[in-house]
Amino acid sequence: MSQEQLQQLKTRALDEIKKVSDQNQLQNLEIKYLGRKGELTKILRTVGELPEAERGKMGDLANQVKQVLASEIGRVKKSLSEKGAGAVEENEWIDVTASKVKDGFGHLNPVSKIQYELEDIFSSMGFMVLDGPELESEYYNFEALNIPSWHPAREMQDTFYVEGDGLLMRTHTSPMQVRTMEKYGAPLRAIVPGRCFRNEATDARHEHTFYQLEGFMVDKNISMANLKAVLEVVAKKLYGPETHLRLRPKYYPFVEPGVNGEVTCFLCKGKGCRLCKNIGWLEIFGAGLIHPNVLKAGGINPEKWSGFAFGFGLTRLAMLKYGIDDIRLFCSGDIRFLNQF
Ligand code: PHE
Repeated sequence: MSQEQLQQLKTRALDEIKKVSDQNQLQNLEIKYLGRKGELTKILRTVGELPEAERGKMGDLANQVKQVLASEIGRVKKSLSEKGAGAVEENEWIDVTASKVKDGFGHLNPVSKIQYELEDIFSSMGFMVLDGPELESEYYNFEALNIPSWHPAREMQDTFYVEGDGLLMRTHTSPMQVRTMEKYGAPLRAIVPGRCFRNEATDARHEHTFYQLEGFMVDKNISMANLKAVLEVVAKKLYGPETHLRLRPKYYPFVEPGVNGEVTCFLCKGKGCRLCKNIGWLEIFGAGLIHPNVLKAGGINPEKWSGFAFGFGLTRLAMLKYGIDDIRLFCSGDIRFLNQF
């Protein structure tokens, strides 16, 4: 062993000690160098065998290295145990003058707010909350829903068709009616909030991407009275106890009879104002009793079971509730818009 090799051993040992991250590793190093059979101990033992000329120098140096390593191990041992007790290490520091990071609160999109509110109301009445595919098949979006081939929604101008295998971007959340019936059978209660797409020329009232909330219930002897009772509870929870609900006939191929649901304008309480265009009523959903053909498509026997279905325009509800006059703001990604809610 030369003096040079001893120096190298010292450098290597110090380097290893520096990289230690727990007491265990440190103890292993202590054994490796300073233990009874440790590298340095072995060297010290052989110093006596060296020629006299070298003995003194090597002995001094080896002892010196031993001291340096022992004191370094001692220092790291102390620092590790303090760290374990939650203390700050010598060379770590906290800048107490640094300015505080500004608290930034995220904002829910107004559509999400209405959606969560409706999810709470419907789950309290025993409805499941489900998700459905946005990329749909022509079958579930149209055929299974009794939508005849001449229906305008089938036109290229209204629907985004996707190349291959009869796929399209769903034009409404109604395709989930049949999907859910197939999966769960009767009886059944579920709502499906979600994004829908129509090939619209966009303006303040039309957008190619918007949100609906579908709902349906299948059970024994379900009638229009059940539909009205459930949706009246929802309308009162959403707009206040003095709210009334009226149903007016409207054609949808997948319900029979079909209706438009309107609530008394929450702004003027039915007297007539700018929001309701002086009518006193606001149209907020389409609904009806599920057509027997749709029940059949879902594998449910229409002789035994009946059901109602409805579809809220979530985006429309948010526009009405918050007085938003341009639909394009919802997906604009403009933080100044979102910050208001
Ligand atoms: N899917 C219809 C629409 O997009 C709404 C609706 C749903 C009507 C369920 C009746 C029953 O306009």
